[in-house]
Amino acid sequence: LPSFPFFTSKSQVPKLDPEKLPEHIAIIMDGNGRWATAKGLPRTAGHKVGSETFRKIATYCNNIGIKHLTVYAFSTENWKRPKEEVDTIMGLLKQYLLEACEKMVKDNISLKVLGDTSRLSPEIQEIIQRTDELSLQTTGLKVNVCINYGGRGELVHAMQKLAQKVSSGELDPEDITEKTISDALYTAGVPDPDLIIRPSGEVRISNFLLWQSAYAEFYFTPVLWPDFDENELDQAIISYQTRSRRFGGIKKA
Ligand code: FPP
Repeated sequence: LPSFPFFTSKSQVPKLDPEKLPEHIAIIMDGNGRWATAKGLPRTAGHKVGSETFRKIATYCNNIGIKHLTVYAFSTENWKRPKEEVDTIMGLLKQYLLEACEKMVKDNISLKVLGDTSRLSPEIQEIIQRTDELSLQTTGLKVNVCINYGGRGELVHAMQKLAQKVSSGELDPEDITEKTISDALYTAGVPDPDLIIRPSGEVRISNFLLWQSAYAEFYFTPVLWPDFDENELDQAIISYQTRSRRFGGIKKA
C-alpha cells in the first residue's frame, strides 16, 4: 500500500471530523468482475455483492449525515458486455429501485437515476417515475445512480438542449454561463462532488462527472468494490479532511 499513489496510510491520519464532512461524495463502483474472477466465481456474482456494498454505503452515508451520494453503476459503454452480465446489472437495478419505493420515505432518502434512461426497459422507466415522485417527499440523503451515463454524452445532451433554446429565441448565446450549463446537465440542482472515490486500483476518471469534477478531491484505493466498507469510506473522508482546498485561490490564514 505505501507505494500506491494518493493513498494516505492509516497511521498518518487523524480521526474523522463530523464537522467537516464532504457534502457530496461520488463513487466509481469498480472491481466487481476482478473480485469474482479471483474467487473462481462468475462476474455476475461480483455485481451481486457489489450491489450489497452499495446498499451498505448508502445507509452509512445517510447515518453520518452526507447530503449527496452519486454512484456510477452502468456506463454508456457497458452495453458492450455479454448479455447475461448486462441483464444481471439491470436486474439488480430493478430490485434496488423496487426496494427503494418501499423504504425511501421511511428512511427519508431520495433516489434519482442519472443518464439516458430512454434505453432502459419500459418497466424500469416506470419504476424510475415512481421513485422520482416519492423523492419529492424526502429531505435526507439524495442518492444519484448513474445508469447509461457518460460525462461527454451528458455534455452533448446539455449542448443540444441549450442550442434548441437559442434557435427558438428563448436564450441569447451571450447569456450562456457556467450556471446555465450546470443546470442543463443530468445533475441539475446537485452541488458539484467534493470527493470522488475510485476503488480497485484504477487511477482514471473514465468519463464520470467530467464537468462537475473540476474542483473535486480524488481518493483512490486498491480495495475492490465488493470489499469496500464503512471503514474504507471513513479512510477516504479522513484523507479528504487532511487536504487544503483552495479552488484556484490561496490558503486563508
Ligand atoms: C464495475 O466493475 C462495475 C460495474 C460496471 C457495475 C456496477 C454495478 C453494481 C455495483 C450493481 C448494480 C447497481 C445497482 C444500482 C444496485 P467491473 O465489472 O468493471 O469490474 P472489473 O473492472 O473488475 O471487471
